[in-house]
Amino acid sequence: MSDLSDKATKRQDYRAPDYRVKSVDLHIDLDPQNTIVRARLDIHPKAQSPTALILNGGAQTLEAISIDGLALGPGDYRLSDGELIIPHPPTKAFMLEMTTRINPSANTALSGLYISSNTFCTQCEAEGFRHITFFPDRPDVLATYTVTLVADAATYPVLLSNGNRTATGQGPDGKHWATWHDPYPKPCYLFALVAGRLAEVRDQFKTMSGREVALSIWVEPGSEDKCTYAMDALKRSMAWDEQVFGLEYDLDVFNIVAVSDFNFGAMENKSLNIFNAKYILASPQTATDADFAGIEAVVAHEYFHNWTGNRVTCRGWFQLSLKEGLTVFRDQEFSADQRGRALKRINDMRALRARQFPEDAGPLAHAVRPDSYLEISNFYTATIYEKGAEIIRMMSQILGRNGFLAGHKLYIERHDGTAATIEDFVAAMSDANGVDLSAFWHWYQEAGTPTVKVSTQYDPRDLSFELTLEQSTPPTPGQPDKSPKPIPIMIGLIGQDGSELAIDGPATAKTLLLSKARDVFRFENIPAAPRLSFNRTYTSPIKVETAASADDLLFLMAYDTDPCARYEAGQQAGLGLMLDQLSGARAIDEDKFIEALGRILDDQSLDPAYMAEAVILPGERYIADQMIVARPAEIYTIRERLRARIGTALSEKWLDHYARHTTNQPFSPDAASAGRRAIRNTALSYLCAGDQAQGSAMAMVHYQSADNMTDRLAALNCLSRMDVPERAQALDDFLDRFKDDTLVVDKWFMIQATSPLPHTFDTVIALTRHPLFNIRNPNKVRSLIGAFASGNPARFHAADGAGYAFLTDWVIELDGINPQTAARMIEPLTQWRRVEPGLADQMRAGLSRILARPGLSKDSFEIATKAL
Ligand code: TRP
Ligand code: ZN
Repeated sequence: MSDLSDKATKRQDYRAPDYRVKSVDLHIDLDPQNTIVRARLDIHPKAQSPTALILNGGAQTLEAISIDGLALGPGDYRLSDGELIIPHPPTKAFMLEMTTRINPSANTALSGLYISSNTFCTQCEAEGFRHITFFPDRPDVLATYTVTLVADAATYPVLLSNGNRTATGQGPDGKHWATWHDPYPKPCYLFALVAGRLAEVRDQFKTMSGREVALSIWVEPGSEDKCTYAMDALKRSMAWDEQVFGLEYDLDVFNIVAVSDFNFGAMENKSLNIFNAKYILASPQTATDADFAGIEAVVAHEYFHNWTGNRVTCRGWFQLSLKEGLTVFRDQEFSADQRGRALKRINDMRALRARQFPEDAGPLAHAVRPDSYLEISNFYTATIYEKGAEIIRMMSQILGRNGFLAGHKLYIERHDGTAATIEDFVAAMSDANGVDLSAFWHWYQEAGTPTVKVSTQYDPRDLSFELTLEQSTPPTPGQPDKSPKPIPIMIGLIGQDGSELAIDGPATAKTLLLSKARDVFRFENIPAAPRLSFNRTYTSPIKVETAASADDLLFLMAYDTDPCARYEAGQQAGLGLMLDQLSGARAIDEDKFIEALGRILDDQSLDPAYMAEAVILPGERYIADQMIVARPAEIYTIRERLRARIGTALSEKWLDHYARHTTNQPFSPDAASAGRRAIRNTALSYLCAGDQAQGSAMAMVHYQSADNMTDRLAALNCLSRMDVPERAQALDDFLDRFKDDTLVVDKWFMIQATSPLPHTFDTVIALTRHPLFNIRNPNKVRSLIGAFASGNPARFHAADGAGYAFLTDWVIELDGINPQTAARMIEPLTQWRRVEPGLADQMRAGLSRILARPGLSKDSFEIATKAL
């Protein structure tokens, strides 16, 4: 593989399929080494087309093939390059039957049919179905499926597939079977099967039209009591989609299966969602508040895909954001309604900055609707998901809630049961509202984060305030020139006394639409020079070049009534202060900044959860992204020094919050209780930063008295960052308590991998040899190696390059086992252009070494080549 553009799949090359597959009949005899798949495909040529029938395939062995009952001879078909080609199929409808043999136990890539803890399961998105049987593996071929599973009854008592179970029976030799039928036509990427010894947790949901849906969550026996929260989240998601979007579930059963080995978060297979166990299993003792929130969001996300993804699917993988961006938007709205809108928005914006902005500014930058790819698995990115959701959020901001919901309704009506495009979605939004949204194409087609430069002018003579906004998007690979985009920006103006000024009739907030490269907005009757509250509620996913002075930021930190803008002012002040210190400038006064944080801690009107977010300094990665050339070790030192000062200077306030939010109420995962834990744990971490001796003693008590994982892990994290005797004691105790819970062991790996202490690198190496580490389990790889490389910049970027060499070695080893997961681990090395030169060269050497691996996967090849 040498040339990228030769092998790439291009959006321009899209052609509708020549053959329709009306129905698929699968008979799958499951065996770990020797599974036999019999497939009957009811194929209909679309026209009198003489074109060859081309089916995708994988590592399976073809044992038999026939058309309409007649076996094909060697000259009737050929197998080449993973494809099965039938050059001259019948010109009228025909039945293609194939028998293939596969070895699920050898499937370490976790794509197609594989085994996770003795359970058979599948992952077919994006292109896994081709590893199960030969098939036109593309999302615009929709068929109904009837699936018969046969397996040993004692080892695999549970047999599941999509749709309804229509028959079961006993076979010879201790086998049993079950037949499942899914009446809704679907692309093959939504096919799923599960077979194993699983425990069932049951519940039910009555839909708005009165349909009783049987809900089941299937888990390894012993984990039944950890499904309560996921089940509750599922029922709340079902009700929410009815109430808000008017969308009702469409079958009598809905199954969720939790598996330990999974490349992603979860998968929306029709009526048989398969989840990474991390996003299902939770108890107060084993899951943190963040885990509970993650479970709620992912359960909702997969459930919402039933309409946005399954009933309306994608015409091709270039349209991936049609389902992912939209479904992320829907799950974000759900979580906002369940947990509080402002805090959810702040968290989403922080995640966007941490993951999507760097992607959009680096060598892997791509449009939300890309033009080409080498390996589609690499395109399940923050850009397709999160930036895609942001574009939809901006449209909904412009159309208003009702206009947006009307557009969504029209979209579903028009495209139900079909494979659609992003154009179709935008057209429905536009038609339902009579609004021209064509300028949104620039958001979909162009990579790169727009910067909006703000300048303001107040004229005391005519009491006018003028706001000048200029937008620009930087060049990205293959896209040197960019166009202006429609950018909705909600603003407010705040008077000298902290009051909100009327700027739109009596309203104190107004959404401006910046569509041109430069525009001026004028406000009249402004009695004195106001302060500008900008991009309220984070109306748009932009970088802002602000005109605000240090004073303005500190003022807005105290007075802005929009929680997002107020939070943002604090982030900008903290960021400015640290960047000043890195460059030797002195624009922001450290004492004044700490005082402003203190006022936030004193503000009784603030929700504790919000307060806890607002006092966290911008992360190391975000600071690095603001520098032309980043110095990771120095960034860490400066940030830690500031945290220590905040810890000491405000120690009384921290102690006060710590005490005030101590409770002996039993654990509840609700947002308000989580908020109280958050401020208390933040207080603890600042106290530790300020005074190690006092902090470590306090953290140890916190650790030992914790009755839930949120508090216990927060304490362990504090201890793990300090070189104190309690550290080893707590880490040993933690492993001892939780060694049998693989998801909690992941946390134990992650806490150690992200510790900034000098010996962390040696610890990480030792942990890769720990009996509980397992390179075949993606969660383990991400918790140890991934967490070290992407969550510990100070240690990963060690001057001798040892961190890079370590990551490179593991990527190379993992590439031979699980290419999808290996390729994702390369990301930290792809940022070499942003790091000081001595380090950058060593990062590039790592990328070159990956490229030199004989037999390198397409997945890793694409990432490493684009990065160099
Ligand atoms: N469609 C899944 C989602 O909800 C993503 C996904 C699950 C996936 N498993 C995968 C993508 C494997 C690529 C490979 O977002
Ligand atoms: Zn999704």
